[in-house]
Amino acid sequence: MRTRRAGGIPDPRAAARAIRRLFPARPRIGIVLGSGFGPVAGAMADAVSIPYSRVPGLATGSVPGHPGRLVLGSWEGQTVAVLAGRSHYYEGFEWPQVTFGIRVLAELGAEEVLLTNAAGGIRRGWKAGDFMAITDHINLMGGNPLRGALPEGRERFVDMTRAYDPGLLARTKAAARLAKVRMREGVYLAVPGPSFETPAEIRAFATLGADAVGMSTAPEAIVARQCGLRVAGISCITNVAAGLAGPHQEVTHAEVLDVARQVAEGARRLVAEWVKMAG
Ligand code: HPA
Repeated sequence: MRTRRAGGIPDPRAAARAIRRLFPARPRIGIVLGSGFGPVAGAMADAVSIPYSRVPGLATGSVPGHPGRLVLGSWEGQTVAVLAGRSHYYEGFEWPQVTFGIRVLAELGAEEVLLTNAAGGIRRGWKAGDFMAITDHINLMGGNPLRGALPEGRERFVDMTRAYDPGLLARTKAAARLAKVRMREGVYLAVPGPSFETPAEIRAFATLGADAVGMSTAPEAIVARQCGLRVAGISCITNVAAGLAGPHQEVTHAEVLDVARQVAEGARRLVAEWVKMAG
């Protein structure tokens, strides 16, 4: 079977065929799980869990113990496809690999995608453990995932005016009220990582209009828009961004993971309400 296109870009149609053999139903909703949102995948009934290694083109992240799984099933009355584990640019993946899962979700027939992540809070007063509904993004990752070969039937110049769908943003805020989690809203700024930012960078990003900073999501949102998917984004603010909590307060991955673990139950409730409201 042909799984690669000219230029080395994997073919999402081949991936979708492999997935449909194991799960024939069409997922209307796609969800990408970032740090803090992991337990979401475990909440689905009758789920089929497919390791990325069994889907041609889905790259496996390098984080030990997190091989990446595509979990498909019904949840809160909806058929949902969950990408549990992402391929980050900082791991060395190229843009087509970083965003391949989004193309697969579109090929499976998804109409909406919820992108979740962990992020550092830039806005004064925001605390670790808050959530942020993404209203817009600033892509400073140093590249664009639409560069290069144009997939058949897709647009070259993709409009990003309302990249984060206003209707889905309203749903995110309503879901937060029902789930009883604190939801901020704001602009997500994407950096390549993997080093955290300097305090000077964070001050610069604040001036640019960013409310949170992270190392993912923006390229996925761009590709999702090219595929015609409606996009929602939620950040879990796992830490105050560099320099904002005082000159001696460092940003550590351990803190990011620790806060992500603490909010996991709220994140699960939040996403459950979000899916329920899709009906
Ligand atoms: N910066 C970038 N990415 C992040 C952060 C941060 O402070 N926290 C979680 N992901």
